[in-house]
Amino acid sequence: MSPTIPLAILLVILATLILFIIFPRAATKSHSNHGRGKLPPGPTPLPIIGNLHQLTTLPHRGLQSLSKKYGPIMSLRLGQVQAVVVSSPEAAELFLKTHDTAFASRPKVQASEYMSYGTKGMAFTEYGPYWRNVRKLCTLQLLSASKIESFTASRGEEVAALVESLRGAAAARELVDVSRKIADYVPYLAPLDLQGYTRRMKKVSKGIDKVLEKIIMAHEQGASEEGHHHKDFVDVLLSLVNQPMNPQDQHVYIIDRTNIKAILLDMVVAAFDTSATSIEWTLSEVLKNPRVTQNLQEEVERVTGMDKMVEERDLEKLDYLDMVVKESFRLHPVAPLLVPRESMEDITVEGYFIPKNSRIIVNTWTIGRDPNVWSENVEEFFPERFINSKIDLRGYDFRLLPFGSGRRGCPGAHLGIVTIQLVLAQLVHCFSWDLPSGVETKDIDMSEKFGLSMGRENHLLAKPTYRLNARSM
Ligand code: HEM
Repeated sequence: MSPTIPLAILLVILATLILFIIFPRAATKSHSNHGRGKLPPGPTPLPIIGNLHQLTTLPHRGLQSLSKKYGPIMSLRLGQVQAVVVSSPEAAELFLKTHDTAFASRPKVQASEYMSYGTKGMAFTEYGPYWRNVRKLCTLQLLSASKIESFTASRGEEVAALVESLRGAAAARELVDVSRKIADYVPYLAPLDLQGYTRRMKKVSKGIDKVLEKIIMAHEQGASEEGHHHKDFVDVLLSLVNQPMNPQDQHVYIIDRTNIKAILLDMVVAAFDTSATSIEWTLSEVLKNPRVTQNLQEEVERVTGMDKMVEERDLEKLDYLDMVVKESFRLHPVAPLLVPRESMEDITVEGYFIPKNSRIIVNTWTIGRDPNVWSENVEEFFPERFINSKIDLRGYDFRLLPFGSGRRGCPGAHLGIVTIQLVLAQLVHCFSWDLPSGVETKDIDMSEKFGLSMGRENHLLAKPTYRLNARSM
């Protein structure tokens, strides 16, 4: 290559940099709104990187401080991408309800390990007939109330296995790495025969396709890995191979192996870490607050008694448990910025112009910690704030949005809530928990680690003591 070419490129870059440094807002505007209105207010973007440097290692926190300055509808540049950050219940309602259709797509996310099948799954697929059909299929075949109900017994067995294994640790007076253990026993994948595969999948970062192939082949041969077989979601999907997903629809999709792998992978990813992490956060708060532990134990004891484990049908009577889980989601939403959306058209919201293909980020973490929404004690874990309140967490109340809302809201919210409540109730009912010697409740570290789902930075360690009457289980 001629040495003059890199020099020329360098000069062009330099000239562009200078132009951006002098006229950053003007440059941004002319690229993004084509003179059709003003963008929401926001910090001045740097050349090339835009505002990426302001996101910090915990972006929800970095965005919280920015939104305090620029308001609940804020404009940012993430590299070359125009983004809008939403940080109040009122603004969230505008984006996720009033104008939900305009913001119902997802941006194409590059190089995700979970994207190996392109956009044939659900969570990262752009809005359109394919996504609609996959969502319908999953909602009916996997996540409907009757399907969830039909797996109650298997969930119970899986939770019983968790209790049994913790009981072993209790008898040996062992310290348990709760973070690891609970992640091993999130129960609802068991009825789908995915649990074992999920553990393996986590170990083999590069072998996801192979693992999925094995799952499918095992099902095709009519036998699961454990040597028994009951009809599950994979079977349902396999029974649809080579058939149109949506015979009545205008766009007909024929289901092939890649569709099945993509949908399966999406389900595992969306369901698994989110739930394990939510249980971990909730238990951390419960252990940090002995008053809450006591209230919870008294409630479960009243409803279930000390002779047996909690049953799923007990959950609807456990009001305090419900409030504890809500409070935990308020402070620790595992998807603090939800899953990004993308605008499908130019649109004006609250007088601000939002160009097509903008990325929409809803900072639900900030909403959960806004004193104007929750009163002054926002940082305190105080489940009683939900007494006599109708605040729901499934996406109907924009003050509490751990599962998002609207067309792209989480289709697994009901299953997720049942699972978290069941596991948590069991853990506090069957065991009392001591912290490692020398550690006090105030020392329980609540630092966050940003990731696909936002978990604890450090593992939670505690020593269980079995507390039910001896012959129970
Ligand atoms: C504690 C448990 C869970 C949490 C906190 C959670 C949270 C979320 C959030 C925040 C979104 C994005 C919503 C939005 O953009 O408005 C989402 C989407 C999704 N979730 Fe969940 N989720 C959980 C459990 C589950 C379960 C159990 C399943 C299925 C078995 C599931 C499947 C999905 C799918 C497929 C999507 C994508 C939906 C779409 O794009 O159309 N999730 N979830």
